[in-house]
Amino acid sequence: MIGIIGAMDTEVEELKSLMKDCRVERHASRDYFIGSLEGKDTVLVQSGVGKVNAAIAAEVLAEVYKVRYIINTGIAGSLNKDIDIGDIVLSTDSVQHDMDVTALGFNRGIIPDQDTSFFEASHELRGIAKEACMKVNPDVKVFEGRVVSGDQFVSDKQTKEDIVRIFNGMCTEMEGAAIAQTAWSNNVPYLIIRAISDKADNSAEMDYPTFKIKAIEHSVKLVREMLRMM
Ligand code: ADE
Repeated sequence: MIGIIGAMDTEVEELKSLMKDCRVERHASRDYFIGSLEGKDTVLVQSGVGKVNAAIAAEVLAEVYKVRYIINTGIAGSLNKDIDIGDIVLSTDSVQHDMDVTALGFNRGIIPDQDTSFFEASHELRGIAKEACMKVNPDVKVFEGRVVSGDQFVSDKQTKEDIVRIFNGMCTEMEGAAIAQTAWSNNVPYLIIRAISDKADNSAEMDYPTFKIKAIEHSVKLVREMLRMM
């Protein structure tokens, strides 16, 4: 079984509509759609926005459904001038930018008393995603790099610059690192796939609603092709 998490309804709607022999089960106040997607046994959930919602969904996928992989699909704000709206970022690893125990001497993002705070994504899934993207989104640029997550919609230049300076990430969003940490805790390979909807700066509030649909289209197309290839 392959687990797929999207945060918002627009991110999971199309995938849900394509599922065959679908049944619904409810856990922790969310619906889990279990069925066949592109011929693969899949469980799909709309987690809701933010790290706690994302972690709950990932834990249910690992614990209840014993998924072999977790794929997180969605959109993100770009942290790099070369990564434009519509482009795709595949996670190499992921970290929480709002984990802040600096007052006790830890670097930003570091979770105290834990082996790692930078959760490495699956090389296998990354390889498949890269190939899938070149097939179905040939005009879209694909980047591989760090995804930086926090419970914050980043929409000002200063916050963006701080995140870039501290974490050297490629994009920022609100769920990926929580999914990554949960996957790591359960020993489940994972990948975050994000299409860029905005530049995470002062233009983000305007760009996000304008480009989010286009960005979601790119990531959904990619996930469908990945499933065909898996
Ligand atoms: N998701 C899409 N754009 C984002 C941004 N700028 N900050 C956080 N999450 C996002």
